[in-house]
Formats: sequence, structure tokens, C-alpha cells
Amino acid sequence: MPTVTEILETMDYGPAPEATDEVRAWLAARGRFGHFINGAFTKPGDTFATDNPATAETLAEVTQGTAEDIAAAVTAARRAQPKWAAMPGHARAKWLYAIARHLQKRERFLSVLETLDNGKPIRESRDVDLPLAIRHFYHHAGWAELLADEFPGQAPYGVCGQIIPWNFPLLMLAWKVAPALAAGNTVVLKPAEYTPLTALAFAEICAEVGLPKGVVNIVTGDGATGAALVAAPVDKIAFTGSTEVGRAIRTATAGSGKALTLELGGKSPFIVFADADLDAAVEGVVDAIWFNQGQVCCAGSRLLVAEAVAETFTARLTARLAKLRVGNPLDKCTDMGALVHPVQLARVRDLVSRGEAAGARLIQTECQLPAKGSFFAPGILTGAQPANPAMVEEIFGPVATLSTFRTPDEAVELANNTRYGLSASIWSENLTLALDIAAKVKAGVVWVNQTNVFDAAAGFGGMRESGFGREGGREGMAAYLRTPEPKARPEGSTDFTASPRPDTPAEPGIDRTAKLYIGGAQKRPDSGYSYAITHKGTEIGLAPLGSRKDIRNAVEAAHKASGWSKATGHNRAQVLYYIAENLAARAGEFEARLKSTDHDPREVEATIQRAFYYAAWADKFDGAVKSTKTRNVTLAMHEPFGVMGVACPDAAPLLGFASLVLPAIAMGNRVVAIPAPSMPLAVTDLYQVFDTSDLPGGVVNIVTGPRDDLARTLAQHDDVAALWYCGSAQGAAMVEAESAANLKPTWVMENRDWTHAQGRSFLTRATQIKTIWVPYGE
Ligand code: NAI
Repeated sequence: MPTVTEILETMDYGPAPEATDEVRAWLAARGRFGHFINGAFTKPGDTFATDNPATAETLAEVTQGTAEDIAAAVTAARRAQPKWAAMPGHARAKWLYAIARHLQKRERFLSVLETLDNGKPIRESRDVDLPLAIRHFYHHAGWAELLADEFPGQAPYGVCGQIIPWNFPLLMLAWKVAPALAAGNTVVLKPAEYTPLTALAFAEICAEVGLPKGVVNIVTGDGATGAALVAAPVDKIAFTGSTEVGRAIRTATAGSGKALTLELGGKSPFIVFADADLDAAVEGVVDAIWFNQGQVCCAGSRLLVAEAVAETFTARLTARLAKLRVGNPLDKCTDMGALVHPVQLARVRDLVSRGEAAGARLIQTECQLPAKGSFFAPGILTGAQPANPAMVEEIFGPVATLSTFRTPDEAVELANNTRYGLSASIWSENLTLALDIAAKVKAGVVWVNQTNVFDAAAGFGGMRESGFGREGGREGMAAYLRTPEPKARPEGSTDFTASPRPDTPAEPGIDRTAKLYIGGAQKRPDSGYSYAITHKGTEIGLAPLGSRKDIRNAVEAAHKASGWSKATGHNRAQVLYYIAENLAARAGEFEARLKSTDHDPREVEATIQRAFYYAAWADKFDGAVKSTKTRNVTLAMHEPFGVMGVACPDAAPLLGFASLVLPAIAMGNRVVAIPAPSMPLAVTDLYQVFDTSDLPGGVVNIVTGPRDDLARTLAQHDDVAALWYCGSAQGAAMVEAESAANLKPTWVMENRDWTHAQGRSFLTRATQIKTIWVPYGE
């Protein structure tokens, strides 16, 4: 007779499928779907099928949205917006609360619908996607309630165009719609073409709760529909999806004045140190990658394992993968379901075989895959060199790369050896080490001894080519609110017409002292040319004609001054106070310089005040500890970008420069600044002030010359992480378009009243938030 242990070992799982009757009846009753515009469903137009990727059966026909459909939706949203925004926050809070309640009531229905349309295991949609989506609406009901208190003086953008991907369809919808509505915006949302059904069910919920018409509009369709939404007269675009499309959207919106947030791809490191709890790490990575078929933008798909434990870790991971149950996503015992679509399956196959062709070895489990549907067996690619396509490109399937490192420094170097910067997961029982690495990885979200933990109260979003802007928490709300800019003032001369001349010996009466200031030293321009600064037709001085090469040298110098970003807020404040003090000592000289060109000499006093102001902020722009619902201390840390470019206005040559450069350096950035082309002499003498104020060389670099040419080089430079521009409208459009290559965040602004140009918004723009999840009280 077999023993109990033997029976337990031979027992198999019985089938435990979730019932689909209710969903199937719902689909059958609707047949073909139109869009949801102005509170009602439109008649279906040209339709396409949305399939169940696990069985290839067609679930429904949905309409391919046209530019006219988008226009109708935007018009409805525009009409509804003023009334929606004018409601007291409490009234909007009640609507969001009603949506949350209705989602909760239909939680099971929506989980099944999601699993049918997307192919992910019911366990995921039921236990992760739906609870998080619901929590998002509750959380943002709260923000609507508190809006006036917590975001005084802020205003909604107006109409937001929102484009979402297929990997977390309803959750991504919640991430986009809840904050937009809470802030007083109305929305037009386009779900992904592979997974439109939960968005359409959501539209029904909006109608059911009686949400005012036009507040939420849903237009289905493919990338062409998305592109039409981007081109439509909306005030903001929020996009989640591939980096490639994100880049196209950045280019398409350049110069349009539309606000933009992008949540793009990732190639996130999952770093396992030798002293990690290896079993926990294995379970963590399986949860993050394989339970989601690897279709997670923040999945730790680059496993970096300490050499000392790599063999053990790999053995345990492969053993665990072999035990994964792959198959019917509706079965409650299934660990891994289907990929979203045959197109995605083909992409994964292609990338894995390219990875193998480039020298990686695929270890794949030999599980029995269902005969039909888009399934791919779990695998690991080992031995891939850093340039292997599988190490560089998002696989977005159930295959992770695994490589080894020897030292913590090497782990950081490998972790950051990517153009992305979405997330990182760090495993070590040594918290000192884990937090040290957390500070060094370039990622918007860092999980310590855990992975893929989300909560509506915490920010989520990337650095570098993973995009910009945050979703969730206060920072996610801020992304749907704008600070009304003070009335723009006409800019002085923005054309750069001065003719260059060789930088040759002195001419009587001409001040020839101006030089470029790079790496803490005065430099002659690479071109060997200067240009004349004139006032009322008279030449009053010469400024060096900076070029591409000078900008590149300045960026290099700024890059080297990385110590500044690590200095304490107190130390930075100290330097800013010295700058104020030393400028005060020479105020007369700077005032005379400004007066000579009819600029307001009070700019000097205001600049001194500004230095005090940002010195005050340098050690007070605090991060936060978020009230997430799990047992974590979830930190939101303000980090400097690193090297920033700043192109300054003509109107207030000294104060404009100070208003932009000082907040940037107060937050720990190093800056390459292009001063006012018409009057750069107002700041070129600042180098002496900087030198006597102990500002380390390379923290502020000044390159004079044609603003737009120089700004273009900054926009194109991969080592410039953010760029602020104040100049012409064409220049602003150019800066936004040229920044698309490495997706740096830009802030283009019109000329303004610089006497009041200070505040938190400058600091927010000068920093990016890193969210760090640390276990606490477990
Ligand atoms: P995608 O970026 O093309 O699609 C995302 C959304 O953008 C969809 O709603 C799509 O219709 C829309 N879209 C496509 N082209 C557009 C355009 N020109 N203008 C406006 N909207 C447009 O992603 P896709 O093709 O489905 O997947 C390709 C790869 O992207 C995946 O293999 C994966 O590597 C990555 N990806 C990353 C995601 C993330 O969350 N970061 C999500 C989905 C895909």
C-alpha cells in the first residue's frame, strides 16, 4: 500500500476553471462594440476582432476608431470639462468613490473578462489587477476631496488624451483615469487593440453610476487611432507603452504646448547578492516575471547574480520553473498563461533566437504547452554578453537573461548598463549594502528584498528612456495639474543676428574680457570667434561664440563634477549663501553693467535674494514616506537628474539666469547654461563670484553664443538628462523634438516676470522621484 507521502507526491491538480458564463452572456448580448462617447455607446463602425490568446477564439468585434471618432470624443470631453472642474472636490470624490464601489461589485466579472482578453492567469487578474485598480479609484476619491487643500493654486490641464497598453489593461486605465478625473480633467482614453474589453466594461460602469456625460470617453482602435488622439486638440497626453511609440509621441507633440507624460519600457535589473535569501529571491523573480508571462514593463528581466551563488541560484530557479503550471489561464491553479497575441509570441521567439545566435544559451522547461494559443515555455538565457540583443532589448516574454557579477560596484555597473531606468530589485540580507545599491541604480522604482509591489499611494515611473512623469501618489496627481504660469511677457530680441569675428587683439574701448566658463576655468571658444554685443547700435563688448564642441566640453566637465550631486543639502546651501554674499560685495559693478544696456539694476538685488531662497530650500525639499497598504516603508526620494542644460531668456539677463540655474544646482544638478544671447556679459563675470564661493569647478558651466544652436546640441546630447529652455516658440519646438532621441524631460517656458520666478515648481522640475520599497515591520 502506498504511503501518504507517496500519494501526495503522485497526486496531480484537478482542474479548477473559473466559470465564464456571465462574461460570455455579456459578450453575446453586445456582439459588436462601438465607442463610448458623451455618455453613450456609438453604433459600431468598421470593426476588428479581439481574441482570447489562450484559445484563439474570437471574443468580440470592436470598432476601429477614426479621426472623426476621436474628434467627437474630444469635443464631448471639452464640453464636459468646465463643469467637471468647477464642481467642489467633494462632488468629484463621490463620483470616484461610486466607480470604485461598482468596480468592486463586478470584481469577479472583470477578472474573468480580463483573463479572457489578455491571457493572464485568473489568479493574477483576480488577486492583483482588480484589487489594485479598485484601490486606485478609492485613493483618488481621496485626492479629489483634498485637492483644494493639498494643491492650492493648481488647475487641471483640461482634456487629457490617454493611451494604454495591453499588459495590465484595466489597471493601466485606472492609473490614468482616476488621477485625471480627481484633478478636474476630462479624458479620452484609447485602450490597446489586443485588450479593449475591460475598458468597454468600464465605460458601462461610468454610465451605470451616472457619471456626467463626456467626462470619460473611450475610443477603441489601433496605433492609428492612438496617433489621431495625439494629434487632436487635447491639453495633455499620457502614454504607457513601448519606447519607440513614446519617442514618436514626443516628436509629434513637440511645440504643440501639450503636456506629456510617458511610461515606457524597461530592462530592469534583478540583483541577487551572495548573502540574499535565495529561496525568497527565486520566488520573487518567478512572481515578477513568469506569473505575468514576462509581459511587465518593470519585470526584473535582467537577472544579475553574485558569482558565488550563481550556480545554486540557477539550479533552484530552473527547478522552480520546471514546476510552473503553464496552460489554461482561467484555471485557478495555473501559474503562467498565454502571451497576449500571436504577434507578441512571434516577437518573443524572434528575440530569443537572436539572443541565442549572439551566443546566449537558452535553458527552457520542457512543459506540455496547450496545442492552441500563444504559449511559450518559461526559460532563462545564460552567458549573454552585454551587447547581446537579449540583454539590450525588452523581451517582454517569459524569458529572463542571467549573468553574474563579482563585486557590488560591478553589479551597479551592469545594472546601469542600459538605456532604460524603470525599476530595480535588490536582494541582500545586508540592508546597508542593499540601500547603498538602491541609491546607485538609475531607476524610478527600487524594491529591496521584494519585487513588483505597487500601491496607489506610491509613485511609479521611469528615468532615462523609460520615460518621465510619475503615476500614483501625490506625484501622480501633480502630473494632472498645472501651475498657472504668470502672464507671458514678450521676449526681447530672440534672433541671433550678430556676425562673428575672429577673437583677435584688443580694440580700444571694447571690453574683451568675456570668456566661456567650463569646468571652473575660463576658456576661449573652440571657434576662435567672438560676437559683438551691441546696445542702441553701439558695440559695448564681445562675447565668445560658443559652438557644439564647447557644449560637449562643458557637458563633460559637468559630468565629472558628480561630487556635487552627493554633497549634502547643507553644503550646497552654504555655497549658495556664499554666492549671495560675494555677489552682494560686487553688486555695484553688476548693476552698472545692467544699467549700461538699460536693464533693471534691481536684478542684482533680486538675484542675491534668489540665492538665499534656494539656499534655504537646499536642505528642505524633503521626500516622503508613503502610506502604502503593505508592510513597507516606501520612500519617495528627490534625486537630481545629473547634468542639466539651461537656455536662459534675454529679457532679464542676470535674474533669468539665476532663476533657472540656482534651483537646479540647489537640488544637486550640474548645469550647462547658455546665458541671454543679447546680453551675456551680465553673467560672464559671475565666474569670479562662483570661484570665490567655493562652487566646485564644473557645477555651473557658461557657454555664450547662439541660443538655439547651442540648445540643439544640449537636446541631442545623451549625457544631458534634462533641459530647460526659455526663448522663441520655434526654439521650444526644436528642443522638444530633438530631446526625443534619449527622451530627456524638457521644460520649455515663455518669457515671464522674472521678479516672481521662484518656488517649489522649479525644484520639482529640477528633480526626479525615486520610490524605494523597504520591508518594515514584517
Ligand atoms: P505599443 O507601444 O505599440 O502599444 C501601446 C499602445 O500605444 C497601444 O494602445 C497602441 O495602440 C498605441 N499606439 C501604437 N502606435 C501608436 C502611435 N503611433 N501613436 C499613438 N499610439 C500608438 O506596444 P506594442 O506594439 O503593443 O508592443 C511592442 C513592444 O512594446 C512589446 O514587445 C514590449 O516590449 C513593449 N511594451 C511595453 C509596455 C510597457 O508597459 N512599458 C506595454 C506594451 C508593450
